[in-house]
Amino acid sequence: STLQALHHSLHAWYAARGRHDLPWRHTRNPYKIYLSEIMLQQTQVTTVLTRFYDPFLARFPSLSSLSDAPLEAVLEQWQGLGYYTRARNLHACALTCKGFLPDSPEALYALPGIGKTTAHAILCFAYRQAFPILEANVKRILARLNALEAPSEKELWEHAWALLDRQNPFDYNQALMDLGALVCTAKNPSCATCPLSFTCKGIHTPTRFPAPKVKKT
Ligand code: ADE
Repeated sequence: STLQALHHSLHAWYAARGRHDLPWRHTRNPYKIYLSEIMLQQTQVTTVLTRFYDPFLARFPSLSSLSDAPLEAVLEQWQGLGYYTRARNLHACALTCKGFLPDSPEALYALPGIGKTTAHAILCFAYRQAFPILEANVKRILARLNALEAPSEKELWEHAWALLDRQNPFDYNQALMDLGALVCTAKNPSCATCPLSFTCKGIHTPTRFPAPKVKKT
């Protein structure tokens, strides 16, 4: 089927071109994956990777080490990353979770600072469950694949579920994020090297999808 062909082509591309050096892809520790996802919510991969991820884990190696520390110590370790609500939420989650991050969507959604996509990333990357994620890169890919100019969140989630590779959701989700970061970029996407171009409805006019936001004056 076309869906299987899409998965196959995406996985082949990911094996050859994916960012396999990212440390949060080499752990199944739910806390380490959770931390990476919170940092990556509002901070570039390179910044997280080169300056913040390892030092934070060295200071707070586990969820319980976070809850044992005062909030001030967590905020201090967060310095330079900005958006300090993330650090407050991390600390609050650690206090609530008592050392164990939940493995159900409902329990994760209930935690402060964990939205649907972050919950799904934890479920997929730590607990190996088949959940799609919808970060900015993935949204853009889905808009282009389906030629959607102004998709709603609901529509995007429907497409995300429809496209999910339930056989290998871990590599599938990581691969889509890499494809969005490296090939299906916001500006100057590289359709000529894209493994999904054979089935992409946006191929001739990728930057029309999603439609560029009109600046309000
Ligand atoms: N952004 C959010 N999660 C990510 C991940 N696991 N790898 C790369 N970028 C991401």
